[in-house]
Parts: sequence; structure tokens; C-alpha cells
Amino acid sequence: MNDPKRILITGAAGGIGRMMRTRMRRDGRMLRLLDLASQTPSADDEPVELLTGSVTDPDAMLAACEGVDALIHLGGHSRETSWAEILDVNINGTQVVLDAARQAGVTRVILASSNHSVGFRDADEPGLPADSSPRPDTYYGVSKAAMEALGSLYHSRFGMDVIAIRIGSCFETPLPLGPRGLITWLSPDDCARLFEACLSAPSPGYRLIWGVSANTRSIFSLAEAEALGYRSQDDAEAYADQLAPTEPTPERYVGGGFCTAPLGAPNPL
Ligand SMILES: NC(=O)c1ccc[n+]([C@@H]2O[C@H](COP(=O)([O-])OP(=O)(O)OC[C@H]3O[C@@H](n4cnc5c(N)ncnc54)[C@H](O)[C@@H]3O)[C@@H](O)[C@H]2O)c1
Repeated sequence: MNDPKRILITGAAGGIGRMMRTRMRRDGRMLRLLDLASQTPSADDEPVELLTGSVTDPDAMLAACEGVDALIHLGGHSRETSWAEILDVNINGTQVVLDAARQAGVTRVILASSNHSVGFRDADEPGLPADSSPRPDTYYGVSKAAMEALGSLYHSRFGMDVIAIRIGSCFETPLPLGPRGLITWLSPDDCARLFEACLSAPSPGYRLIWGVSANTRSIFSLAEAEALGYRSQDDAEAYADQLAPTEPTPERYVGGGFCTAPLGAPNPL
């Protein structure tokens, strides 16, 4: 796929979706932005289509997928909550999204997985492969492992190109996460670079990759993302001097605080 003309983004009103809206703008490209929350147009000439709907609604998702070349699935719960919510929105919702894409003939899908699918892997060895088998730290992490498995299934059964990205932490700066952000940050510009690489890579099949910047303190392998053409240009270390001058406690596990927060309870991390 060279340059998809119409891209559907679910969860587009969320943090990553809003950061991508301007960064992924291109001449000749239309972004179709779907969210449960209503969205407002920003500029008169902004080439976007705004849809309100749920990723759990098969009819709404099929309609949203019509005429789409590629899909970026961000919608759902982005942190821990009850099992019932995770099951409905994150796991069932991902199946609904993938099946709508299949029915509509969308051949390229990017799934927003998370480091929390492998949150209980040790954090003390650099170069953690992107295809490390799941060791979720929460129900949320289980849903991301299920998302990866569903992506693999839809590739193997239907030949769709599906790339699941284990995102570290994508915010304007790494600072909200404290020292952990220096390890896990995916800068918004790098996130856009990564999405573009995933959209344009020829026939990737099913891939599981890390979504992080080239952080000095990173423990994650970038080889798998670089094989798709991703080249990070950012490093969270540039923000290190803005953190409190305390020696950061080394993280024991990849998932950090998610590993000790109460299971199934909404958390603010
Ligand atoms: N931001 C990060 O650092 C990070 C890290 C790892 C993974 N991720 C994943 O990336 C994705 C986007 O993250 P984010 O930070 O933008 O999250 P966010 O919480 O800011 O946004 C999620 C969006 O999904 C929407 N949504 C919730 N339920 C929905 C439904 N049923 N139908 C349609 N839309 C629904 C919400 O309204 C919200 O706008 C999430 O799947 C998250 O798990 C994010």
C-alpha cells in the first residue's frame, strides 16, 4: 500500500487521535475520525469526516469502514477498568472492528496494543523483542494480548495486513510519567512516523512491533518497527533535566505501576 487515500481512525477524540489529526494530514488524503464522543471540525479546509459511534456496534463500524483504504484502531479503554467493560469495549470491540474491516474489504489495519500486554516481563534487559509472548499485568493488558491474537487471526484467515503496535507511552512529552517516561516514551511525531511506516510498508502480513522512540534508556527492540521503515527521530532523554533530581528507582517490570495497582479498578496512570 503506497499512500492510502481514506483512513478510518477509531478513538480519534482521544489523546493519540487528537495528536495525529494534524500530523497525518496529507494532500489527497481524507481522515475519517470515529469516536464515541462527539467531535468538532477545526478548520474549514480540514479534510476530515467526523463520525460518532461505538466500536462495539457492528452496523456502525461496517458503515464507517465503507470506502476506506486503511484503519487505525485506537478506540476503547486505555487503562485498567472492570472486566465487564474491558471484555465488551476492548476485546469484543476489536473483533467487531476487524470483522467490519474484513467485510468492507479494508486490507490494512493498525491496532493500538500496549506494553501492558507484556507488563510482567522483566524490565532489566535491554532489547526486549517485540514478539515476546504475553505476560499481561491487568485486565487491560489481557485485552491488548487478545487484540494481538485477533489481529493475527484476521491476517491468517483472511489475508489482511495487520500490524499490532505495543505502544510504550504516547504523550506530548514524557514528563507526565516521571522517570518511567524516559524509558517508554513514543513522541507524537515518532508516532505519526510509525503509523505512516505501517501504512506504506509493502505486504507486511501480520506484525507485532514496539511503538517507542529511540530513547537512551529504552529497553525495547526497535528492529521490528525499523524493518517496516520506521526511523525514530526523538529521544526522551532531552527531557531528563526537567524531572526532579532524584535517582529514578529502576522498574522491575515492563508494566511499571500497572503491575501493583488493584486488578479491575479504574486507575489514573
Ligand atoms: N497513550 C498511550 O500512552 C498509550 C499507550 C499504550 C497503548 N495505548 C492505546 O492507544 C489507544 C489510544 O490511546 P489514547 O491515549 O489516545 O487513549 P484515550 O483514552 O485518550 O482515547 C481513547 C478514545 O477511545 C474512545 N472510546 C472509548 N470507548 C469507545 C467506543 N466504545 N467506541 C468508540 N470510541 C471509544 C474514547 O472516547 C477516547 O476518545 C488506546 O487503545 C490505548 O489503549 C495508548
